[in-house]
Amino acid sequence: MGIHEGQKEVLAVADNTHITSFWSTHCVLGQFRSCSFHLHIVLRRESVSHYFLGISAYYHDSAAALLMDGEILAAAQEERFTRKKHDPSFPSNAAKYVLAEAGITRLDELQAVAFYDKPWLKFERLLETYHAFAPKGMRSFLSAIPVWVKEKLFMRNLLKVELGRIAPGTARLLFPEHHLSHAASAFYPSPFEEAAILTIDGVGEWATATIGHGKSNRIKILRQLDFPHSVGLLYSAFTFYCGFKVNSGEYKLMGLAPYGNANSDQVRTYEHKIRDELVDIRPDGSMLLNMAYFNFATGLTMCHEAKWQELFGFPRREPASELTQPYMDLALAIQQVTEDIVLRLCKTARELTGADRLVLAGGVSLNCVSNGKILRSGAFKDIWIQPASGDAGGALGAAYAAWHIWKGEERRVNLGSDAMNGAYLGPEFSAADILRTARRHQAPFREYSGSDELCRDVAAMLATGCVIGWFQGRMEFGPRALGNRSILGDPRNPDMQKKLNLKIKFREGFRPFAPAVLEEDSSAYFELDRPSPYMLLVAPVQKSRSIPLPENYNQQGMWEKLYQLRSDIPAVTHVDYSARIQTVSKRENTNFWQLIRAFKEQTGYGLVVNTSFNVRGEPIVCTPEDAYRCFMRTEMDFLVMGNYLFAKPDQPAWKDDDDWQSRIEPD
Ligand SMILES: [Fe+2]
Repeated sequence: MGIHEGQKEVLAVADNTHITSFWSTHCVLGQFRSCSFHLHIVLRRESVSHYFLGISAYYHDSAAALLMDGEILAAAQEERFTRKKHDPSFPSNAAKYVLAEAGITRLDELQAVAFYDKPWLKFERLLETYHAFAPKGMRSFLSAIPVWVKEKLFMRNLLKVELGRIAPGTARLLFPEHHLSHAASAFYPSPFEEAAILTIDGVGEWATATIGHGKSNRIKILRQLDFPHSVGLLYSAFTFYCGFKVNSGEYKLMGLAPYGNANSDQVRTYEHKIRDELVDIRPDGSMLLNMAYFNFATGLTMCHEAKWQELFGFPRREPASELTQPYMDLALAIQQVTEDIVLRLCKTARELTGADRLVLAGGVSLNCVSNGKILRSGAFKDIWIQPASGDAGGALGAAYAAWHIWKGEERRVNLGSDAMNGAYLGPEFSAADILRTARRHQAPFREYSGSDELCRDVAAMLATGCVIGWFQGRMEFGPRALGNRSILGDPRNPDMQKKLNLKIKFREGFRPFAPAVLEEDSSAYFELDRPSPYMLLVAPVQKSRSIPLPENYNQQGMWEKLYQLRSDIPAVTHVDYSARIQTVSKRENTNFWQLIRAFKEQTGYGLVVNTSFNVRGEPIVCTPEDAYRCFMRTEMDFLVMGNYLFAKPDQPAWKDDDDWQSRIEPD
């Protein structure tokens, strides 16, 4: 060991050591009687721990999640590592990361790998759909089948090959159904012992929505709505018709809806046309789409544009072209129809299960306007929404299904708090990692010794209109930045929206930004009586803060409406006086809470603007390198990583190719 007899103290680290070998090691050190020997044992994982790896892949938003004895150790989306938004490829990087969090080096150490759907059932749906619609869709059938046969039908082999590239050994593969994975992601980490479960998305294998009942460690699916009748695909068809990208632009359609003229004849007419021609909604929330208007079952687009144009009287909007009133009114009409379907499904879920709590997952559960309506409908005492409600969350749900359903393990509920660790489940970087990035770019910074002074200084910068990149701790799992990979601004500043949109995010965003508010202060600003830690609930801004609109408001164009002063927190107040709220508790994110608290001490306002740390079309930053690059490419004023503050004017000139923006596909 190279220890000299004269040494008074020896520090050693032993890997893979257990107690007996510690003592034997100690005994042979008799020759060093005069020195004290501190043996630090790095205990390897107890062999009794059970690990389940969940994987979602090959559609969009691939992800990996790891459970240890039913607790989430880590979860992340592949896009954050590959820097390709909504990356659908096998999540090699994400899987490597989550396994490394547990020190797992061989697949044999896993009890099982759970994939988030059943590929052969999906294949069956594909075949049956083409059969039902034949000879329509022959072209897309011929292009899809070879891919399916080669990759998806032989998923088991494909997964084995991909997993083999990550680590040696073999692992058992499990395939819970897609909506069971969503249901598991909603129920098992929720703070409820018993709950009704509602999953709604575009489509899994056959199911497009399910109603289930969760109690202790069991989930029972009670009702299922099947393809092609899908709330998610209906909403996506309107996303497409309004010129946004399907599977990522749905949130824009939701944000566009409040620009529609509520209670106007136009919106009413569109809504009637949707109900009369496109979708037959039953009292229990089940629905039938009139497939004469839709193309997604067999074609490569969402809808028959000519028929829609005839129905609504205007053509599909060209992507990135001007947004005019008919599209805003149409967005409002489909948002209202969607809310109606979702509320009916909730009512049915309540009747079928008798449960007074509801949990939600599936892409449609990211519609936070509709979530807010569910809450205010009073159908349930409380609701909980999986923060990674899209298919990324399926990875987590698949792992949970394996643990509780396949293995039959009991569920421990932490009443009052969920099991998501605030969704802070991704990679974390050390001070050394941050300093390495700083060195690589010769970036000057100021180091703070403690968070009090740092928060005080950053709060003061925010209050003077500066925009701050805030990079702390573990990266968020799911589509929202919740204060660890965030860009922050002052919500009182009437110019903040414009500045953030044009100088930082490089977009003509028509949506206001979200507020991150101290949990204890939330009701002083918003009509919300409970926490909303995942930015998944929309609620009205308190009336006492509202500024009345001018009489000609409805005649105003979109940008005039957006920049109309509507409250004393204009940067986070939408055109319909609503806000997409994140409540921040000291318990879940001490750093972020402390910063907002410092902002309150200086301004009297216990909230900040929180938008994700990225530019348009780019995934949220993961590493200090990603963060520094994004900081330098934009007009952000300061970057805070850990306890290090980087001021823009101090930084060396950023050398970048001029067309980096053209390589990022707009979302
Ligand atoms: Fe899904």
